[in-house]
Amino acid sequence: MFRIATLFSLIILMNSCTRPKAAHNEAVAHDVHSYGNPAEARVTHVSLDLRVVFEQRTIEGSVVLSVEHLSPKTKQLILDSRSLQIDETEISNDGKTYAETHFEAGPADRILGAPLKVDIKPDTQFVRIRYSTSPSSAAALQWLDPEQTAGKEHPFLYTQGEAILTRSWIPLQDSPAVRVTWDARVKTPAGLKAVMSAPNCMDTNDCHFVMDHPVPSYLIALAVGDLKFQATGPRTGVWAEPSVVAKAANEFSDTEKMIEAAEKLYGPYRWGRYDLLILPPSFPFGGMENPCLTFATPTVLAGDKSLVSLVAHELAHSWSGNLVTNATWSDFWLNEGFTVYIERRIVEELYGRNREEMEAVLGYQDLQDELKANPVRDQILNINLDGRDPDEGMTQIPYEKGALFLTEVEEKFGRAKLDAYLKGYFDHFAFQSITTKQSLDYMRTHLFAQDPAAAAKIPVNEWVYQPGLPATAPKPASQAFAAVDREIDAWLTGKPIETANWSTQEWLHFLRGLPEHLSAAQMKRLDSQFQLTQATNNEILAQWLLMAVRNHYAPANLRLEEFLTTVGRRKYVKPLYAAMDPKQARAIYEKARPMYHPVTQSTIDQMLAGRKESK
Ligand code: BES
Ligand code: ZN
Repeated sequence: MFRIATLFSLIILMNSCTRPKAAHNEAVAHDVHSYGNPAEARVTHVSLDLRVVFEQRTIEGSVVLSVEHLSPKTKQLILDSRSLQIDETEISNDGKTYAETHFEAGPADRILGAPLKVDIKPDTQFVRIRYSTSPSSAAALQWLDPEQTAGKEHPFLYTQGEAILTRSWIPLQDSPAVRVTWDARVKTPAGLKAVMSAPNCMDTNDCHFVMDHPVPSYLIALAVGDLKFQATGPRTGVWAEPSVVAKAANEFSDTEKMIEAAEKLYGPYRWGRYDLLILPPSFPFGGMENPCLTFATPTVLAGDKSLVSLVAHELAHSWSGNLVTNATWSDFWLNEGFTVYIERRIVEELYGRNREEMEAVLGYQDLQDELKANPVRDQILNINLDGRDPDEGMTQIPYEKGALFLTEVEEKFGRAKLDAYLKGYFDHFAFQSITTKQSLDYMRTHLFAQDPAAAAKIPVNEWVYQPGLPATAPKPASQAFAAVDREIDAWLTGKPIETANWSTQEWLHFLRGLPEHLSAAQMKRLDSQFQLTQATNNEILAQWLLMAVRNHYAPANLRLEEFLTTVGRRKYVKPLYAAMDPKQARAIYEKARPMYHPVTQSTIDQMLAGRKESK
């Protein structure tokens, strides 16, 4: 059958031929987390034609991959796949007529999935694959029953590709070093709206999604549900279930200002629109920077914009991460460290230095905790992940140590120089995937060379290739927190304290600053003075519940169970299960597990399997 999508691939292919070569990264970095052979035969465009079947919990249809030949002898296109059912593979040299071709699936690895080897010819331009996703083990997908949504009436589906999960819903070369343009048609049941990480259309049933910038595969994303849109600015808005959309639009009304702040610093926002999709509470992350459409947890809807640094963070990825991408998962700090640094600059611009300082101190405390909790090999920014799940490298270390490195560069060179440098860096590497070495080489020639005396003060190799923090590392401080520290001392001696004007960040610092072990009387006093068990801010609630678990504060048990059975955000639930005694943890987890995304399930499964019952 001749398909419009196929014709489209042809047009895109012709387009990308006229694009300057720099749009593709010249050398493809070796990626231990992909079976793909992009150095021989590389996928350049992905054209999807899919149907979402809620009854069967499957996505089925076809993908047409455009293939660029880099080695004339190549007889196979090697792709990544995970738990996919492959029905048929075909090849074409004109995008019109297809002939069936042989394929072979290699043995499946627990982390990487299985290679899918498709026989191709020297003139093959397109490979078409008919396939469907596994109803029970598609690791990127979460299928939600109506009860797990805000409206309770319609089912919901969303994907989470980062780091190496896209291969569980699309067979492709699932490496961040392989950038593709893509387009998609997605059929959904009547009344359910599909949105993707591309410009979205308002039509409910027939949108053709087109991403014409080359992106890494982990940024291809889809969500389907009862979704409504509300604009918050000329190029910003929110998608959410009908009962959530107005609240979300209020919370995120500063988004346009954030884009303007980032553009002033780092150059134009190149993705057209920037919308947010508010997911049901089981979403495993705070946010995911899917291009044009950040996916976000509803747990940041605090009512007072106190948690919107999450939007600053995901928006910052429009430069660091989506425009200039880590070439392998060992270079993840290039995505996240740069992004946290930019996030804080945006926060400072919109909400002031005071707020930025508080968030930097909270981040620094997280970093200290992570450095204590992780072995030295995982404290290295350019982490070695051979034979490991990239998820294991996703601690606060690439985020906060990476950001601190740039903060030191800022201190030694001054803001003006670093800002100009970063702007040039994003321009130079726009739409490319780069390694740590490429990033540092560029920094040496384009920034360090300008002021060798300043550069000599920065132990770059120690920052990037050694564990812990260099002695020169900046130590964030906050005046506001110094005042909170005095209130902590007062509270511990039983004196009244003044909390009326505290921000969420001050509350967090207060709670974290209390001793780890508190008496039953102290826990009770905290709760009755500040109604912490009833807290509606999820950051404060999660911190309090952790203290409740650690100190066996029974009056919070109901709230704890309610929280764990509705919220699947891994950052919150993981520490709570880790702090509970194994029996209590297993009892709650048994009820909660079905509502978690596979990402959170797999983390908690492994954690609880690794622990022995205490009695
Ligand atoms: N890209 C990450 C989320 C991610 C990382 C997904 C690794 C899968 C693997 C996203 O930008 C992120 O960092 N989210 C944070 C929020 C942020 C404010 C630090 C999160 O989800 O907690
Ligand atoms: Zn991030």
